[in-house]
Amino acid sequence: METKFCTIEQKAPEAEVIAQAGQIIKDGGLVAFPTETVYGLGGDAFNKESSKKIYAAKGRPSDNPLIVHIAKVEDLEKVAKNIPEEAYILAGAFWPGPLTMVLPKREDVPKETTGGLDTVAVRLPDHPVALPFIEAAGGFVAAPSANASGRPSPTTALHVNEDLEGRIEMILDGGEVGIGVESTIVDLTGDKPMILRPGFVTEEMLLRVLGDVETDQTIMLGSVAGRPKAPGMKYRHYAPKGSLVLLEGSPEKVLQAMQEKLAAASASGKKTGVLCSTEIAPFVKADVVIDVGSRQDEASIARHLYGALRQFDTENVTEIFGESFSREGFGAAVMNRLLKAAGYSVESL
Ligand code: TXA
Ligand code: MG
Repeated sequence: METKFCTIEQKAPEAEVIAQAGQIIKDGGLVAFPTETVYGLGGDAFNKESSKKIYAAKGRPSDNPLIVHIAKVEDLEKVAKNIPEEAYILAGAFWPGPLTMVLPKREDVPKETTGGLDTVAVRLPDHPVALPFIEAAGGFVAAPSANASGRPSPTTALHVNEDLEGRIEMILDGGEVGIGVESTIVDLTGDKPMILRPGFVTEEMLLRVLGDVETDQTIMLGSVAGRPKAPGMKYRHYAPKGSLVLLEGSPEKVLQAMQEKLAAASASGKKTGVLCSTEIAPFVKADVVIDVGSRQDEASIARHLYGALRQFDTENVTEIFGESFSREGFGAAVMNRLLKAAGYSVESL
């Protein structure tokens, strides 16, 4: 199949492009589109054949449920039932925005969309292209991140093209995303709200409006430590082709250990890469050095993280060393992704 690559004006999306993209979804096809977190691969959430196509295009295991994207809060009731008060509190505080809620699903949402579960994940994104696109598509767009399964999520339309060209009908290029890591997922089907995946909306932000929230404790640990409650969190993810080891400690210690390891790797003929902060980047000697931003600037680190992991692949780097960052606040989301990419390989200095 030929994939139509369409540039769209982020601030004032062209109505005819939006209409065309919406029609593809209504006809059972797939369209990749920008959101504020990462690019999504959309299909009609109520069409089980569309959901099957999403799994096939990504090479994704079919027990890993999709998120249903809506464009207005009222539509929550068309996909979820027995909606608790907390859901409306969260919607009021964080929608549109990078928050996904897991709720009991209505019968007419196909199990193909929810990976066989009786619950459904719902999100109302905050993006000037995503919202009119969802409306034009009929209001309910099932969308995982638009990467091939196992690869880092796409933060540009070119990343989507790398992974999915020839497999989907259309890619809407609305420029670079703002946040760079996927939405926070909160499960509202248990006794207490539980964070299944950390994101831009932090535990502290949720506590402020809910008063009580738990975090799935498997999030920061390797898969050996337990079975995460969001099925997708158990898969190996985001991993570059080369080996990635994280170094944790003061900038001085990280830099020193990195230099030693880099020298050894180069001596044995490896192509080396480093993912690090602006604080140490000027002093590092490696074949590919990627500065993702200041240690203090979690937003910058998040925005550059997936692009950096992809770049190591493009440049065929075989031995990568990464700086470990703060796990506080939004840092929890960044480190969750970085730890997964490294297969939980961390050296404390
Ligand atoms: O920011 C985002 O959430 C992006 C953009 C495109 O909206 N989407 C995204 O989708 O990250 P995906 O499919 O890559 O990740 C969805 C995660 C998976 O870990 C999946 O297992 C979990 O959400 N999930 C979906 N439905 C669930 C459910 N009913 N119960 C528990 N976890 C669920
Ligand atoms: Mg994903």
